Amino acid sequence: MNEAPREQWGSRLGFILAAVGSAVGLGNMWRFPYFAAENGGAAFVFLYIFMVALVGIPIMLAEFAIGRGAKKSPIQALAHFGGRRWKPLGVLFVAGGFLILSYYAVIAGWTLRYLWNALITGFAGDPAAFFGQVSTGGDAVAWHLLFMVITITIVAGGIRGGIERSAIILMPLLFLIVLGLAVFASTLDGAGAGYAFYLTTDFREIFSLDVLSEATSQAFFSLSLGMGAMLTYSSYLSRDDNMPREAVIIAGSDFLIAFLAGLMVFPLIFALGLSEQLSGSTIGALFIGLPNAFAEMGAVGRPVGVLFFFALFVGALTSAISLLEVVVAAIIDTVRWPRRKAALIMGVLITLAGIPSAFDITVLGVVDQIAGNLFLVFGALCLAIFVGWVMPDPIAELRRGGERVAWLPLWYGFIRYVVPPLLLLVLYFTVRATFEMIVGLFGG
Ligand code: PHE
Repeated sequence: MNEAPREQWGSRLGFILAAVGSAVGLGNMWRFPYFAAENGGAAFVFLYIFMVALVGIPIMLAEFAIGRGAKKSPIQALAHFGGRRWKPLGVLFVAGGFLILSYYAVIAGWTLRYLWNALITGFAGDPAAFFGQVSTGGDAVAWHLLFMVITITIVAGGIRGGIERSAIILMPLLFLIVLGLAVFASTLDGAGAGYAFYLTTDFREIFSLDVLSEATSQAFFSLSLGMGAMLTYSSYLSRDDNMPREAVIIAGSDFLIAFLAGLMVFPLIFALGLSEQLSGSTIGALFIGLPNAFAEMGAVGRPVGVLFFFALFVGALTSAISLLEVVVAAIIDTVRWPRRKAALIMGVLITLAGIPSAFDITVLGVVDQIAGNLFLVFGALCLAIFVGWVMPDPIAELRRGGERVAWLPLWYGFIRYVVPPLLLLVLYFTVRATFEMIVGLFGG
C-alpha cells in the first residue's frame, strides 16, 4: 500500500506547547481552584502536587513510551506492543475522547458566548438569569457548534500546520494573560480575603480517601491522561526527545497555570463582596460570580472580563483539539480516511453527541463523571499494568533520546508495584461516586 509518511512535529518546543495546550484547560481554570478551596486549601495543593509526582508523571511517561515507541494512534499502538487483546483499551480511549469532547465543547461554547458578550455589550443585568439562558437550549447549541467548527478547522489543518502552529501562538498568550490578571487581582482590596478562602490550610481534610481519590482523578483530567491524548501527541515525535524531562516540564506548567488561576479568580470575587455566590456550584462561581464582579468593577471590568474569558476560551480550545486528535488519529490509522475527512465527519458526530449536554446540565454532569473521571482512572490503571507488565522493555524505549535519566528504573518499579494498587483504590472510590450519582438521579 502506498502511504503518506506519518506526520511529525516541526520542533521540540512545538510538541511541548501542544502538550501543555492539551493539559491546560477548563480543568485548570475552573475545577482546580474550587477543589482546593473546598478541600483543605494549601493542604490540598500539596496533596495535588504529590499525586502529580506520584502517579501523574509516571502515567504520562507510560503514554510517551507507548506513543513514541509505536508511532501509531492508540488502538494500533497498544496492539503493537501488547497484541490484539489490547485493542479494546484503545477503543475505550477513543470513546473517551469522543465523549469528553462532546460536553467539554458545550462548556467551551459558554466561554465563547461570554467573551462575545464582554466584547459587545459588557456585563449587565442579572448574571444568574443570563447564565440560565445561555447555558442550556438553543443558545448553548449555537455556541457549541461554533466552538466545534473552530476545533475541527484546526485539527483538519494537520499536526504542524494546525495543531502546532495554533499552540505556538496561543499558549504564550494564555500564560501572559493569566499571569497579568493574577498580578492585577493582587492589587485589589479584597485580595487578602480571596487568598484566605483559596489557601486556608486544613490538613485534616486531605486525610480522607475521598479527597485523595478526587485529587488523583483531577490530576488525570488536568494532565489529559488515561485516554491516549499524550500517547497520540508523542506518536508524532522523532526519537531524540528527552521524555522524562519533557514530562516534568509539561506537568509543571500545567500546575503553575492551575495555581495562578486560583490566585486570579478568588481575589476578583472577594474584592467585590460576592463570595456568597461561591456556595453554589463551581460552574456557578465561574460563570455567575465572575461576570457579576466584572460588572461591579466599573470601567476596568470590561477589558478584564474580555481577557479572562479569552484565556478560558483559549485553554478550552487547545484541549479540545487534543481530544479530537485522539479520535481523528485513530480513524486515519484504522479506516484510512484522509485527515480532513476524518476531522470533519468525527467532529460532526461529536457535535451531535453533545446536544443532550447542551440541553440538560444534568446530562453534562453525568457524562463528565463517567468519561471525565471513571474512564480516566480506569484507563490509567490499565496503562500502568500494560507498561509495567506487558510491554517489553519500556525503559529502553524511553532512553532512545540518548540521555541517561537516573530515575527511570525507579519509575519502572513504581509503575509496576505502586501505581496499580493505588489506582485500584482510587478506582473503587470513583466507581462508588459514579454509582451514587446515578442512583441519586433516579432515587432523588
Ligand atoms: N486537560 C484538559 C483540561 O484540564 C482536559 C482534557 C482531558 C483534555 C483529557 C484532553 C484529555 O481542561
